[in-house]
Amino acid sequence: MYQAPRGTIDILPDEQNYWRYVEQKAAGVCRLYGYQRIDTPAFEETGLFTRSVGQGTDIVEKEMYTFKDKGDNLITLRPEGTAPVCRAYLEHGMSNLPQPVKLFYFADIFRYERPQAGRLRQHHQFGCEAIGESDPSLDAEVIDMAWRFFASLGLRNLSLVLNSIGCRQCRPDYIRTLKDYYVKHAPELCPDCSTRLERNTLRLLDCKKPSCQKIADAAPRSADHLCPDCAAHFAGLQKYLQTLAIPYAINHRLVRGLDYYTRTVFEIQPEDAGGQSTIGGGGRYDDLIEELGGRPTPAIGFATGIERIILNLKKQSIAVPPLPIPRVYIACLGEAAREAGIRLGADLRKAGTGVIVAAGSRSLKAQLRQANSLAAQFAVILGEEEVRAGTAAVRNMATSEQQAVSLGELLSVILNEQGD
Ligand code: HAM
Repeated sequence: MYQAPRGTIDILPDEQNYWRYVEQKAAGVCRLYGYQRIDTPAFEETGLFTRSVGQGTDIVEKEMYTFKDKGDNLITLRPEGTAPVCRAYLEHGMSNLPQPVKLFYFADIFRYERPQAGRLRQHHQFGCEAIGESDPSLDAEVIDMAWRFFASLGLRNLSLVLNSIGCRQCRPDYIRTLKDYYVKHAPELCPDCSTRLERNTLRLLDCKKPSCQKIADAAPRSADHLCPDCAAHFAGLQKYLQTLAIPYAINHRLVRGLDYYTRTVFEIQPEDAGGQSTIGGGGRYDDLIEELGGRPTPAIGFATGIERIILNLKKQSIAVPPLPIPRVYIACLGEAAREAGIRLGADLRKAGTGVIVAAGSRSLKAQLRQANSLAAQFAVILGEEEVRAGTAAVRNMATSEQQAVSLGELLSVILNEQGD
């Protein structure tokens, strides 16, 4: 027997109401903030990601699904959604539109990670990108949008952590200071951090090992090494977050795992959770569009993993509305009844009502049992004799009340009974 590949999940019908709930809330929030939907391909040229996410990152080094297609093109299944949106922004001349251009997406994302709860090899993200504006009020708006989105889902006890990692003017000096500090601590570092020291010093701050965390806590802080513009930007963002009454904490060790970030980085975390279960994160990427061949174009965005949201909805026992189900079940006994049932089913569907017409030749009892397990509101029972007499029985499945209705009135009786 085949099984779904390790780190992937089947989203079964039972789970679909969670997905619909999250997607509808996301689309609702996007409407409130003026974001338009974009869909990009599930795969791109590999270079797009190595260039943007960064050579020294875990994603590029260890996690990308990369292969040569039959045309010898080097292809990668998207390991994140920001670079493809920027590629589309450039490809379709969106810099000529009023800026910032605000886009959102639902996308499946592929990362070859070690699977565990909330960590998959194919997961799904809702993300948004606001491209073409550097004002810190836009950073605050994106964070506000993420924050309102989680609130609209009913999630509680989330926390927002924030940092500024500077720009290409001030960051090199900071990285030098950071490296000097870490070189002094080199013998105490874990093997991963020892290799990162040369290649991606900033990521040392992110190490989850307790011994490295102690060193990271005392490390020089990027927020203390910002140039005047970045410092003003970070102060502006904090002022607007206060205006919006969004509680935040500055975490000097927050650097995020993708190289394209500049200035603002942020994450939203559930209570009781370590960095492993961050439900959303994002930040500014002011150099990325230029890096991909466009004019200098500041931008900021955010993404959240839908599987992790659903884990938290369940953990917090948040009730999610059920999906609509067919409300009428037509039980048929005999060929004449089946024909009448098929006709009635077609008429009800034309009137917009969901119907299941029983197929096969099960007993009436078995058909009613099925109507019950499908949670139909009404069963219409058509037997040979009823059809000959021009009637049918309409059974309210909740109360088991049953009434005889003439076939001519059946449609209007059911439509009235349903109240829709
Ligand atoms: P990211 O932090 O790598 O950011 O991913 C965003 C969110 O996707 C995470 O907060 C988490 O909820 C979810 N996620 C990540 N990896 C997995 C996984 N293996 N399994 C399940 N869920 C996962 C980005 O991807 C950036 N593109 C976000 C962004 C948009 N920055 C600016 N604009």
